[in-house]
Amino acid sequence: MQNLEQILTDAQREFAACSNLVDLEQAKARFLGKSGALTDLLKGLGKLSAEERPAAGAAINVVKQGVEQALQEKRDAILAAEQAQKLASETLDVTLPARGKSQGGLHPVTLTLQRIEELFHSIGFEVAEGPEIETDFYNFTALNIPEDHPARAMHDTFYVDEQHVLRTHTSPVQVHYMQNRQPPLRIIAPGRVYRVDSDATHSPMFHQVEGLWVDEQVSFANLKGVVQDFLQRFFERDDLEVRFRPSFFPFTEPSAEMDMSWNGGWLEIGGCGMVHPNVLGHVGIDAEKYRGFAFGLGVERLAMLRYGVNDLRLFFDNDLRFLKQFS
Ligand code: FA5
Repeated sequence: MQNLEQILTDAQREFAACSNLVDLEQAKARFLGKSGALTDLLKGLGKLSAEERPAAGAAINVVKQGVEQALQEKRDAILAAEQAQKLASETLDVTLPARGKSQGGLHPVTLTLQRIEELFHSIGFEVAEGPEIETDFYNFTALNIPEDHPARAMHDTFYVDEQHVLRTHTSPVQVHYMQNRQPPLRIIAPGRVYRVDSDATHSPMFHQVEGLWVDEQVSFANLKGVVQDFLQRFFERDDLEVRFRPSFFPFTEPSAEMDMSWNGGWLEIGGCGMVHPNVLGHVGIDAEKYRGFAFGLGVERLAMLRYGVNDLRLFFDNDLRFLKQFS
């Protein structure tokens, strides 16, 4: 019985010394475990006489409750301390500045295409589209480039199979558009085209914008007026001039290369001409009654000049440091 008081104070002292649940469990075992101090005493009850036993049992139980209470209090204290520490380590500093949002922007070629469409739309041109995988017929034959014609070699063509190519220019859209319609027709056809070609000013995939105007009285002078007006507005330069150099395209007659004045010299920006009567014939338009002009401009070429970019490949490297300058 003297031992009982001692056991309680020992337990209280040992529990108090514990700083975590593992130590506390070990301390608990020393008092309440299978061979713990209190368990030993309870086992010893059997040796007492029947008269002594109830009082001794009750006294042991009082101490056991005291030990269990001390244990529970310490356990609660350890859990509360652990919780407090966790909360402290997970504290958010809501006063820290937020991470900035970075805003995307349109690709310079997209911006250029949008600008081209806007300007032509304002003078009554509609936008037409065609497939990027073309049949041999639309890319060549219908444009007056029959098989074995040397002009096919001028286009360094990607063949998909015997009958299909990645279109080498936007001119086949002329054919698609005219097949189902009668003049007057006035369209531009912007889009991707492909050629086996790669250096600082040539890319295997690039963009062209085709222009086509067919009506009864369309002339070369109209072509020059439309192109010059477009370029002056595109580059916002009233003094910009356009000149034509005689050239050859099977689908136009006469044909010309277009140059524009730039930094005291001339720069080639595309090809053009009067739509060849054979092309009109292919799509069922009366070439005696109607005439038309067509042109094809290199979109990247225009974007390079407008933005002062000296290597066309920069447009397709997708380097964010380059692209961010346009957003
Ligand atoms: C043609 O593609 C003709 N279809 C244009 C045309 C249309 C003529 C209608 C008459 C009537 P050309 O191959 O010259 O023409 O190409 C036109 C423009 O595309 C060139 O002036 C150039 O600016 C651009 N271009 C050509 N090849 C590449 C390339 N690999 N990378 C970037 N731009 C190119």
